[in-house]
This record gives sequence, C-alpha cells and structure tokens, in this order.
Amino acid sequence: MNGSASPPQPHPHPLRRAAQNGLMQVEGWFDSAFGPKLNPLTQLGALGYFYFWIVAATGIYLYIVFETSINGVYDSIEYLTVEQWYLGGIMRSLHRYASDALVITMMLHLLREFVLDRYRSVRWFSWFSGIPILWLAFASGINGYWLVWDQLAQYIAVATFEWMDWLPLFGEPIANNFLTRGSLGDRFFSLLVFLHIALPLFLLFAMWIHLLRISRPRVNPPLALAAGTFAMLFLLALYKPALSHPPADLGMVVERVSLDWFYLGFYPLIEIWSAGWVWLLLVGTSTVLSILPWAPPFKRSSPAVVDAANCNGCTRCFEDCPYGAVVMGPRDDGRPFPSIALVSADLCTACGICVGSCPASTPFRTSTQLVTGIDLPQFTLDKLRKDVDQALARLKGESKVVIFGCDHGNDIGKLASPDVAVFSLPCIAMLPPAFMDYVLTRGHADGIMLAGCRENECFHRLGVEWTELRIGGKRDPYLRDRVPRDRIATAWLAPSEPGELAGRLKAFRDNLMAMKISAAKDGEKEHSHVS
Ligand code: HEM
Ligand code: SF4
Ligand code: SF4
Repeated sequence: MNGSASPPQPHPHPLRRAAQNGLMQVEGWFDSAFGPKLNPLTQLGALGYFYFWIVAATGIYLYIVFETSINGVYDSIEYLTVEQWYLGGIMRSLHRYASDALVITMMLHLLREFVLDRYRSVRWFSWFSGIPILWLAFASGINGYWLVWDQLAQYIAVATFEWMDWLPLFGEPIANNFLTRGSLGDRFFSLLVFLHIALPLFLLFAMWIHLLRISRPRVNPPLALAAGTFAMLFLLALYKPALSHPPADLGMVVERVSLDWFYLGFYPLIEIWSAGWVWLLLVGTSTVLSILPWAPPFKRSSPAVVDAANCNGCTRCFEDCPYGAVVMGPRDDGRPFPSIALVSADLCTACGICVGSCPASTPFRTSTQLVTGIDLPQFTLDKLRKDVDQALARLKGESKVVIFGCDHGNDIGKLASPDVAVFSLPCIAMLPPAFMDYVLTRGHADGIMLAGCRENECFHRLGVEWTELRIGGKRDPYLRDRVPRDRIATAWLAPSEPGELAGRLKAFRDNLMAMKISAAKDGEKEHSHVS
C-alpha cells in the first residue's frame, strides 16, 4: 500500500546514479573494514583539517630551525634531513606527506560531494568557496617546494615564471631572473618564505569561510582515525624520508627531476603544451566548477515557514537545522515567549528536519487541521497526518508495518503492499517522534520501519544522527518511553541496497509475528492460571 510521498524529486542522472552506486559500494567496503564511525571516506573534510594542522605544526618547527638565506637554506635542510633525521628529518617528511594527504583528501572530498549532489541550489556556498581553497592549497604546496632551493625548486621556479610570463602583466619576463648564477638574492628568498606563511594563512581563512553556511561541521576526525592516519604518515616518514635533489645551480639547465605528482603534476604540461593552454585548462576548470551549483536540473523547494501562533521559541529547530537556516529573533506579537524562530529563505534546503524538531508537531492534536510551529509549504505535516490516517485505515494483515523513508535513500515504493504502507519524506528526521507514538500506541500498525540514508552518509548531514538520538531519548523531542522500541526498526542503507532493505523488512515482520504469537501464548497461559 503506497501512502503518500513528498512532492517528487528529480531522479539523479543515470551517470550520477551509477557513480553514487559505485561510491556506496566502496564506502560499504570501508565500513566493513573500519566500522561506520571510523570510515575515512565519510569524514574527508575533517581529515583535511587534521592534515592541515599537521602541516602547520611541523612547518613551525622547520621555520624555526632552517636558514632563510638563499645560500644557507639548502645546507640547513640537509642538516635537518641527515644529521637530525630523528627529529628534523621526521618533521620534514611529515610536513611533506601530510601536505600530499591534504591534496588527496581534498580531491576525494570534492568528488564525493559532487557525486552525492550536495552542492546545488541553496547549498552552493560550500562548493563555491571550495574553489579558492583548491588554488590556495596548490599554491602553498608548490611554494613550499621552492624553499628547499634544490634542482626541483629551480625547475619549478623557472617553469612557474615562464607560465606567469604568458600573462601580459610584467614588462620584462621574470623568468630571466633565473638565467645566471647569483642573479637571485636573499630578498627574493625572504619573499618566498613570506609567501609560505601568508598562503597557508589565507588557506586556513578560506577553510573557515567554507563552513560558514553549515552548522555543526565535523572538523575533527575521531581520535582512533586521527591516531591511525598519523601513525601511517609517521611510518612512511621513517620508511621513505623526504629528500632533496642536488642544490640549485642557475648556471645549468635542470634536466631530470622526480616530481611530487600530487602538487606538481601539471608542470610537464607547460612544456608539452604551452603556458597559454595550461592557463586555459586551469582557469577553464575553475570556471566550470564555479558554475556547477547553478547547472540544470534546478531543484528548489519552497523554504520552511514559521507559524507565530504555534512557535513558543523553544529553539529546537534552531539547534537541529543542518544549514544554519533558522535564527531566533525577538517577538513582536505580544506572546509571553522570549523569541521566535525565523527562517533565512536563501539558506533553507527544505529538508524538513526542523518540522521533526518542533514540539507542536504532534498528530495527537485534535484540531482538524494540524498546524505546527514550522512547516514545509509543499509537504505539510497536516497532509502527512491525513495520508497516514487514510493508509492506516486501509492496512490489513497479520503484521502491519508503516515504512517512513527518505527521498534520498532507497526507493521504498516497491515495498508497498496491503499490509505495508510507505511514506517518503525529504529527510527521515522530518518525522516527529510523536508520529511514531501515534502510529504504534493507537494500535494502527504492529511496527514502524525507518529507512534513511546510510550512517554518516545522510544527504542532509544530520538527519540520521538526530533520528537515532530522538529514539534513544537523548535529544529533544525524544520518543516517549511508552513506545515499545522493539516495534521500531531502523534501516540506514544506501539507495543501492534495495535487496538488503527488503531482507531487513522481512526479518522485522517475522519478528513482529513471533512477538504476536508469544504474546498470544502468554495471554493463554495467564487465562488458564486465572481460571
Ligand atoms: C582543504 C580542503 C577542504 C577542507 C578541509 C574541507 C572541509 C569540509 C568540511 C569539514 C565540511 C563539512 C562536512 C560535514 O560536517 O558535513 C565540508 C563540506 C563541504 N565541502 Fe569541503 N573542504 C575542503 C575543500 C573543498 C573543496 C575543494 C570543495 C569543492 C570545490 C568542497 C566542497 C564541499 C561541499 C559541497 C560540502 C558540503 C556542504 C553541504 O553539506 O551543504 N570542499 N568541507
Ligand atoms: S527545512 Fe531544513 S534547512 Fe530549512 S529551516 Fe528546516 S531544518 Fe533548516
Ligand atoms: S521548534 Fe517549533 S516551537 Fe521551537 S522555536 Fe522552532 S518553530 Fe518555534
């Protein structure tokens, strides 16, 4: 039996769907290997921050001990690497490998957010602000390679300035400065050192801006993941210490260098193509990335609206909104509450999580029209209650189940039958716990199944977490104690796991039947005792 669903969402393009299925498959393997809480693929942003802090901490040590003159720097780094390998050498290697890990993590994070489609429409900001992060991260790393002033640094410096010279900005080609021995002095080198402090600081600033429009971003990986990933970098530093090339010599042309492909991979292109084409590639890619959030198909649902008469200013919607779209403002309607919820329309993704948070979202209210404190105009709670009432009245069978699903999870429509009613919501956390109470304690159904995105992969970031906490009685509005928890099953699964969902539903219904039979037997026993 198909109940009601939120207004239809555009289906992902088949290519995106295929990429999502592939990603979910790989993340599933990582879940099995590390457990969902320590899966590195689901916390790439937090790992990015962690690697940044390792780079910053090791960088401070290197800055304190290395010499910042063009003639002294190479020897001072050699000293750190060879003589002081146990400290300076390890710091240098950690600095390099954590920088590489930052780039790998950042690129995977970009790909993952793209594949999961978490960058469109009102969610444009984090994506758009990620583009300067890309440039700043690469610029910081490339600039770092110059500071060693070995032959690799010389190769990059010359190639970079040849590339920059393509722009009609400088009268004299700056690459000419690298043609003769002694043409570069300490002042030039001080500029490089200054840049290597300024660029990472700008990067950190950009990373901070990146998260301004989402609430409760995860910026720290769990301790075990941080320790494990640090241990890997440390072992790599011991096994394959970062080394320098021979010292730079502007009197000769560098012929062979081994590149760090994560940072320097596009340098060979400057030679193979031309500086102009490489500019076109990089600026073109950045431009395409920048406009992606506004590329069709457009999907924009109307933002949540607050009903002043039903809002008591409890702040739960403000606490739960994953996008910081709710603020608490002063009231001017004369009601005896200190504040009222206000929704910023251009931040609201219409996920409905706030509807699930609101204490006024209770179907037990007797009014014919259910008006809550905050609601989605295109999919109101009143409509959900009416649809649930109608579906429950039609449910037949021995183990009647209501499935509440999520538009971004499995297609639950296929599971509908005379004894199973299904309702798809914009996010599973739109379902107020009072609705579970309503369905079960009124005896309309034997069980409820909540089918949402996989743990740590929630399309709306916090939906699965809030739902778990509400059922567990750890977050307001919590599910009342009187609701039997063994009649609620959760299935946090990827859209690519319909078979697993069907299996879980069958197991749940078998369990409900077994409970029914055992309750009937207990009833019979009690009856025979009494008589
Ligand atoms: C140093 C590099 C980066 C770091 C450390 C970083 C960090 C983060 C963190 C911590 C989150 C929040 C995750 C959560 O709790 O849900 C996030 C979200 C996001 N990031 Fe990044 N990021 C980086 C680069 C990028 C880049 C280059 C892009 C794309 C161009 C990007 C696009 C996004 C998007 C689309 C989101 C999701 C926003 C949403 O859920 O609405 N990030 N990032
Ligand atoms: S619908 Fe979602 S994004 Fe909009 S205010 Fe409610 S919780 Fe925030
Ligand atoms: S959860 Fe409901 S009552 Fe509480 S502040 Fe938000 S709209 Fe008002």
